[in-house]
Amino acid sequence: MEEKVTATSTNRLTTSSTQTNQPTPISHITVDIEKRLLTGIGEFDRVLGGGVVSGSLVLIGGDPGIGKSTLMLQALNGIACQGKTALYVSGEESVRQLAIRGRRLEKSDQNLLVAAEIDLAAINQMVSQTKPAAVVIDSIQTMFNDTLTAAPGTISQVRESALQLMLLAKQTGTPIFLVGHVTKDGAIAGPRVLEHMVDTVLYFEGDRNHIFRVLRAVKNRFGSTNEIGVFEMRDSGLAEISNPSALFLTERPAYAPGSVVTCSMEGTRPILVEIQALVGKSNYGTPRRTVLGLDHNRVALLSAVMEKQAGFDLAGQDLFMNVAGGVKILEPSVDLGIIAAIAASFLNKAVPPDMIILGEVGLTGEIRAVSQIEARLAEAQKMGFTRCVLPKGVAKRVTQSEPALQIETAGRLDAALELIF
Ligand code: TYD
Ligand code: MG
Repeated sequence: MEEKVTATSTNRLTTSSTQTNQPTPISHITVDIEKRLLTGIGEFDRVLGGGVVSGSLVLIGGDPGIGKSTLMLQALNGIACQGKTALYVSGEESVRQLAIRGRRLEKSDQNLLVAAEIDLAAINQMVSQTKPAAVVIDSIQTMFNDTLTAAPGTISQVRESALQLMLLAKQTGTPIFLVGHVTKDGAIAGPRVLEHMVDTVLYFEGDRNHIFRVLRAVKNRFGSTNEIGVFEMRDSGLAEISNPSALFLTERPAYAPGSVVTCSMEGTRPILVEIQALVGKSNYGTPRRTVLGLDHNRVALLSAVMEKQAGFDLAGQDLFMNVAGGVKILEPSVDLGIIAAIAASFLNKAVPPDMIILGEVGLTGEIRAVSQIEARLAEAQKMGFTRCVLPKGVAKRVTQSEPALQIETAGRLDAALELIF
């Protein structure tokens, strides 16, 4: 069954998009200079790789209620405000509900068309009649194809609908955004089965209990992945956060043991984040290890390195770790920051509040160089930090770059901990 659907897609696409199937020298193929459509939402355009590419199929996944519909309505409104027609098709809400949502946001433009529809044939017709500059399908799980008997939301319906929309995008050159709900385990017939079909996959993440949201590109045929956009959910919709470091550090407790600031590169952008650790004597046989926002295995590895290479006795201790604000940081350059946070809580000593800590830590306790150190230090200086602890390997590269920063370097874990505490 799965094979059959994939086979149809290739056949249909080749017959429709190219006249001949003869192999051609790559240098003979003419490429139009890519024109990108801007939505006017800077963070969104940047995550897409500099705007919307014509004919592209983009999947926006995320938990229900995170703000996908809000974001897409705002993006289409941005396009409509430039005098271009934009079409929002909802299978989940009535046009009245969409209008109410629109009222909460900034002024809706009259070029923004909305329709409540789940039938793909009807959607096809709408697109050929209105010739929109961009289309949103909210959500792909509600779309229905009358050639299949299966109910909307089943794998075969979701896949076939996406396939038809892909053909529509490629044939008409209209960019189409598919909204898709994912559950935490990705188990429901949802966007995960579509990831290989679409050009770009964006995930809208965040904790519903926190106000801010992160838009992340996990696949992008037209730009870099791991680029993120940061938004804040307000009463009037999503607002762009152009300085995420400031946001993530706002509630940082100065002089609190267990709080450390480090810097992670998110795509092209350095972002300062606060890592928190809480270490306490365990009352149970097996000590607890609870990690939020960081890689669980990485934390286990680093605490093993601390035990072996720096003599910390963490065996009988519970360990809780968190990245403030609910962000996820998976870069190894924050290793030394993680260790410093654990050590600070264990020793009950505060890391100086104006200090930023960077470095990857190896199994033998060596501190390894991190990439793009200049950009990270510039961000630290901008945010008012005055001291930094860095890997020895980057010392030469940074001595001149940020004169206002006091730079200390270490090649090994014990030396680094000396510098910090
Ligand atoms: P929504 O975009 O409907 O989420 P999704 O499409 O991902 O399911 O928005 C979710 C929540 O955002 C909703 O509970 C209400 C809230 N919200 C605001 O806080 N401000 C606003 O301006 C809007 C439109 C929604
Ligand atoms: Mg929605």
